[in-house]
Amino acid sequence: MNILLIGSGGREHALAWKLAQSPLCSTLFAAPGNAGICEEAECVGLDVNDFAAVIDFCKKNDVKLVVVGPEAPLVAGMADALGEAGIAVFGPSARAAQLEGSKSFTKDICTRYGIPTARYATFEDEASALAYLKQHGAPIVVKADGLAAGKGVVVAEDMTTAEQAIRDIFGGAFGAAGAKVVLEEKMEGEEASLFALCDGENVLQLAGAQDHKRAFDGDEGPNTGGMGAYTPAPVLSDALAEEAMRRIIEPTAQAMREMGHPFIGVLYAGLMITGEGPKLVEYNVRFGDPECQPLMMRLNTDLVELMQATVRHELAGGVAEWSEQAALTVVMATRGYPGAYEKGSVISGLEKAQEDPLVKVFHAGTARNEAGELIATGGRVLNVTALGEDIAEAQRRAYAAVEKIDWPQGFWRKDIGWRALG
Ligand code: AMP
Ligand code: GLY
Repeated sequence: MNILLIGSGGREHALAWKLAQSPLCSTLFAAPGNAGICEEAECVGLDVNDFAAVIDFCKKNDVKLVVVGPEAPLVAGMADALGEAGIAVFGPSARAAQLEGSKSFTKDICTRYGIPTARYATFEDEASALAYLKQHGAPIVVKADGLAAGKGVVVAEDMTTAEQAIRDIFGGAFGAAGAKVVLEEKMEGEEASLFALCDGENVLQLAGAQDHKRAFDGDEGPNTGGMGAYTPAPVLSDALAEEAMRRIIEPTAQAMREMGHPFIGVLYAGLMITGEGPKLVEYNVRFGDPECQPLMMRLNTDLVELMQATVRHELAGGVAEWSEQAALTVVMATRGYPGAYEKGSVISGLEKAQEDPLVKVFHAGTARNEAGELIATGGRVLNVTALGEDIAEAQRRAYAAVEKIDWPQGFWRKDIGWRALG
């Protein structure tokens, strides 16, 4: 079977690496891809926002499955367009992708289905939001309703910060994503992510993971897409994961089905492990990046088989098998990220870093220059991922590999995994 993978990040490199290993995969295409993905797949210069062009490509190249990595094309309706053309897509419809695309949509489902989450209220104008704030006080969490590239959330410890955040969002800081504001009770606890495949009817639990969103050691500095991750997440015991499946993910899949928008793809639940058990922080409708990288290192089951079962509504009775080992990813980013950074710096040493068979370096923002050298073209650039008997060993191995990479313009956190090792 020919497969087309959409995306260009570390997540997509990990997916490409795993898809390409499957005996069920004949040709793997990727659009737009990156220098690492192009080693696993045939990269094609398709405009992934042009759904008609994607459909045309699939028809001409006998593509039977399209795997969508990032959320933006899903929220824009890629799965709907391809589905109408008779092409199977691993990823939800635009309506189902509202679980990530609209915080108020998800919160309303939580209310209707009794899904544990922070208490909240939704506002469409500044004055009512400010009035609610006055009544409830800080700490409080202020969120732009729509997609804001992970930047639309402010955990405000005091009234001034909360007020400013409300004014910023309604003032247009996030464009259309800020037409509505959600104000939420601040939950206390440790965060973890749980992933599950959904075929519209059935759900299949995958593994848990934890990431590091802040740019610098000690969880300091600005928020990023994620500077590292590991799996399993010690805080998410089997019992808590089972509880999250039963009380959060399964009722959500049921809600989507009952609303006539069955969810097909991978559901990523951001959880807060509170004194009262797991509560939902947010949903994403795709794999996490970088969480996907260590997950794929541990996955023993054929990924094409799992994705095929998902799109064919055949997940019932399925299992996903995981290595007993832990996996950990250190993200190497260009100096300056998540602010302004330069592109084009040369990177070397990846072969040396991967001499250890338990290490794999997944690429994110990389390309080859005319001389064939590897260059950095983005903020997050490399995902150095290692397996180990436990998180401590995976961490040692990943950092030993990082040391072998020669990239003066790069930086990385030195403490990925600290929460699991503390
Ligand atoms: P979100 O984009 O909804 O995942 O929010 C980004 C981050 O803000 C989360 O990963 C949490 O660290 C934090 N956060 C969001 N909502 C809450 C909440 N209700 N209580 C505490 N922290 C939150
Ligand atoms: N690592 C967080 C995310 O993928 O949203």
